[in-house]
Amino acid sequence: MFKETDKKFSFGTDLLSKGAYVREPHDNPEALPIFMTTAFNVEDLDDLQHRYDTKGFCYNRNRNPNRSALIELMNYVENGENSICCSSGMAAISTAVISLTKAGDHILSDKTLYGETIEIFNNILEKYGVETTFVDFTDMDQVKSNIKPNTKLLYTETMSNPMITVPDIKAIADFAHENNAYLIVDNTFVTGALFKPLDYGADLVVNSLTKFANGHSDAVCGSVTGSNELIQPAYNLQVLIGSQADPFSSFLVQRGMRTLHLRIKQQCKNAAALALALSENPHVIKVNHPSLKNHPQHELATAMFKGQYGGMLSIELPEDREKMNKFMRELNLAHYAMTLGGYRTTLSYPVMSSHYDVPREKRLEMGISDGLLRISCGIENTEDLVNDFLNAINQAYA
Ligand SMILES: Cc1ncc(COP(=O)(O)O)c(C=O)c1O
Repeated sequence: MFKETDKKFSFGTDLLSKGAYVREPHDNPEALPIFMTTAFNVEDLDDLQHRYDTKGFCYNRNRNPNRSALIELMNYVENGENSICCSSGMAAISTAVISLTKAGDHILSDKTLYGETIEIFNNILEKYGVETTFVDFTDMDQVKSNIKPNTKLLYTETMSNPMITVPDIKAIADFAHENNAYLIVDNTFVTGALFKPLDYGADLVVNSLTKFANGHSDAVCGSVTGSNELIQPAYNLQVLIGSQADPFSSFLVQRGMRTLHLRIKQQCKNAAALALALSENPHVIKVNHPSLKNHPQHELATAMFKGQYGGMLSIELPEDREKMNKFMRELNLAHYAMTLGGYRTTLSYPVMSSHYDVPREKRLEMGISDGLLRISCGIENTEDLVNDFLNAINQAYA
């Protein structure tokens, strides 16, 4: 706090401190205010020491009230002891992975990850002597046969992007621990509202809060949640590399997450209805969604997500650019956007977005053909949404 004084200074000097306090009682606002401040004043060195001892607020890169509030919320949502909240999902992923590995370590990862996570492993960590092997995490034999004595970390997404496969998190966590390795799970596609990887043995869970968690497509943010023991080194690293979430994004995300439970229910309902309707349409080659009985992990997903299957699906259309363009232009309720998890339905084309830098043969190996579109369902009325898709497909491919 500034020093209060009756002493008068010149206009330019007083201008710096007038109106800097809220003088009336303001202890319990209905909504959390935004603490847009880089630092907090202390009275003297004893007060400074007290701030250090009580983990009070001093400097934004270390701690900020909005970030602390979001941390508390993420601890609850993911059922963890502690979290760090980061400037993006990628900041969360890189902070988590770097905090757990050193030169000479090996990472065993699922091969169908978000493209930029693959780049972190291949282009960044490799430079620092950390090697990564990519295998299919839905095939435990592949996981088991690729573990090495120096494997420090196993890494997967709860639901892969964009093929929507579902690995058995419990089996992978048990296997990681039998081999003295950690498991990190990226839970962005389902969030702790549907599935909590830490309850199934994961050591750290990372989230891009930019997506379903915030749900309003207006903030970029991420989190890492786990035990105090693993979050402390991630926090120490975050302070050094400055990957912290800013106050305004932290505020927006904790605000958006108040309705996560309601949104995700409708998003799951829409995705399942759309998947079923599109799987019955003769123009659609393939639909990837775990609600479908022919999805390779339908039963596992039913057990893991307790009857809901997430708001993400992907569809394969004939590789005809002109018709795909027409289909996209015919849609009224779904728009192309380089994001997912918002309250409106959005489309993305992995070949030209998340997997743009992945070589074509590698992409095809992952099942990402030139006809694949990813759909992130919003909270529209289910019938409106399904009819809009069917109409657009029938118009474009008739
Ligand atoms: C599964 C997954 N993880 C991480 C990220 C990265 O999140 P951000 O864009 O917040 O950095 C994305 C982005 O789309 C994603 O889909």
